[in-house]
Amino acid sequence: MFGASGGIGAALASALCNRDDVAEVYAASRSGDVPVHVKAVPLAFDLADEASIAAAAARMGASGPIDLAIVATGILHRADGGGPEKSWRALEAGALAELYAVNAIGPAMIARHVLPLLPRDRRAVFAALSARVGSIGDNRLGGWHAYRASKAALNMLVRNFAIELARTNRQAIAVSLHPGTVDSGLSRPFQKGVSAERLFGPADAAGHLLQVIDGLQPADSGGLFAWDGAAIPF
Ligand SMILES: NC(=O)c1ccc[n+]([C@@H]2O[C@H](COP(=O)([O-])OP(=O)(O)OC[C@H]3O[C@@H](n4cnc5c(N)ncnc54)[C@H](OP(=O)(O)O)[C@@H]3O)[C@@H](O)[C@H]2O)c1
Repeated sequence: MFGASGGIGAALASALCNRDDVAEVYAASRSGDVPVHVKAVPLAFDLADEASIAAAAARMGASGPIDLAIVATGILHRADGGGPEKSWRALEAGALAELYAVNAIGPAMIARHVLPLLPRDRRAVFAALSARVGSIGDNRLGGWHAYRASKAALNMLVRNFAIELARTNRQAIAVSLHPGTVDSGLSRPFQKGVSAERLFGPADAAGHLLQVIDGLQPADSGGLFAWDGAAIPF
């Protein structure tokens, strides 16, 4: 798990620790603020530092192949900017570059170091948390340029990884997942207008995502799936 300090990532790490079929959870984060559990192994990394990703991955793979890798990192906008862009007039090259770096390039570097750790002789899953708004086909509202574009790039990278992975790991699955709107630091300023039944708590969101992951088949590899298991068009 990369991003085990996030709202959704921490809930996923906790849920995995509480499962009988999970022996160990590598809880990698930048801040170190990850769930404490006897099965949790805290690790440090920063998406902007590939060496730190390589070191965390090496530790994850030290005792053998890993059956599930989740990338739960991401940002919606720059911390010091004016929020997600509502118009092209608000575009800033620096903000675009930062969102691509965190939402697409960082997860790609994680894939580079983690995909070789997946077993070749059994089912394994690489799942990156993306967003429905990263679907080009589903985009009817516009706005949030850097976030949408960086998540679309992530979805494309994951599709590419799935194609390449299938050549060596026939039972492996690489997918992008949309968690729904989840109450976290990322979504909190943007929850107005989201009905109570459409705003999931992190624990519920983790449950949804793990149910989707458990149900994935190799034929699903490369796809973008929502919290309820529905395929989202690219
Ligand atoms: N919440 C929603 O409604 C929603 C909806 C659709 C999609 N998503 C996606 O779900 C994922 C998780 O979102 P969330 O709601 O859990 O957000 P969150 O609570 O803000 O967590 C974001 C995570 O990303 C990590 N991160 C950010 N920049 C990093 C960097 N440079 N290096 C390492 N880690 C970094 C944060 O680590 P630190 O703790 O160190 O900052 C944190 O663990 C994101 O990809 C988001 O786009 C969320």
